Amino acid sequence: MYEKRPIIALDFSTFDEVKTFLALFPAEEKLYVKIGMELYYALGPEIVNFVKSQGHSVFLDLKLHDIPNTVKSAMAVLSQLGVDMTNVHAAGGVEMMRAAREGLGSSAKLIAVTQLTSTSEEQMREDQNIQTSLSDAVCHYAKKAAIAGLDGVVCSAHEVDQIKSTTQSDFICLTPGIRPLGSAIGDQKRVMTPSQARKIGSDYIVVGRPITRAQDPVAAYLAIKEEWNG
Ligand code: C5P
Repeated sequence: MYEKRPIIALDFSTFDEVKTFLALFPAEEKLYVKIGMELYYALGPEIVNFVKSQGHSVFLDLKLHDIPNTVKSAMAVLSQLGVDMTNVHAAGGVEMMRAAREGLGSSAKLIAVTQLTSTSEEQMREDQNIQTSLSDAVCHYAKKAAIAGLDGVVCSAHEVDQIKSTTQSDFICLTPGIRPLGSAIGDQKRVMTPSQARKIGSDYIVVGRPITRAQDPVAAYLAIKEEWNG
């Protein structure tokens, strides 16, 4: 049976750290990694090319949010990098998300950030003047992402159920904030274990520090992968 891979958040800032980390894994263990703003802004397309050349899959987490034409052009550039998945902010609107889809084409998955999981309901009401519940706001954005032809959303594992019930069942819910039992929570607030995330229907989990900062990252990864696959 096809094994699902947890996506490893490569939250490093130098090439050396990335190389050293990836070299820990046996060559036949093909990973799915998340390259975020820090790494991409420091190292650019070169880091994506390097990771892809090792046979790994890449989720480029740049969360684009600009006028539709700019996002479309930027996505056209990212499509040339051969990334497997990338994202935008749903707050950019349906027209922007449609433009992103057009620019990226269908070669990579495109998902939307709804509300960042670091945003509380109080902050959303105060800062964004969205006077509804956080879960309603998240579901509203998820529906707009689906209308715009996106493949799914980044969300808290706690929001998966509601999102799945208001979109198609194959609409992707990618969930960070995953912690195996006994691992440090760090700055995450509402966490779930890999097996809980599987049971509630997450399609992809993103795991950073429990793997990257483990004493034995390969063993930590394999244990999380096993738990994730049930
Ligand atoms: O180390 P940890 O497992 O907390 O890393 C989670 C990764 O997922 C980080 O790269 C973090 O920026 C990202 N992320 C998140 N919550 C979101 C969106 C992204 O934790 N809502």
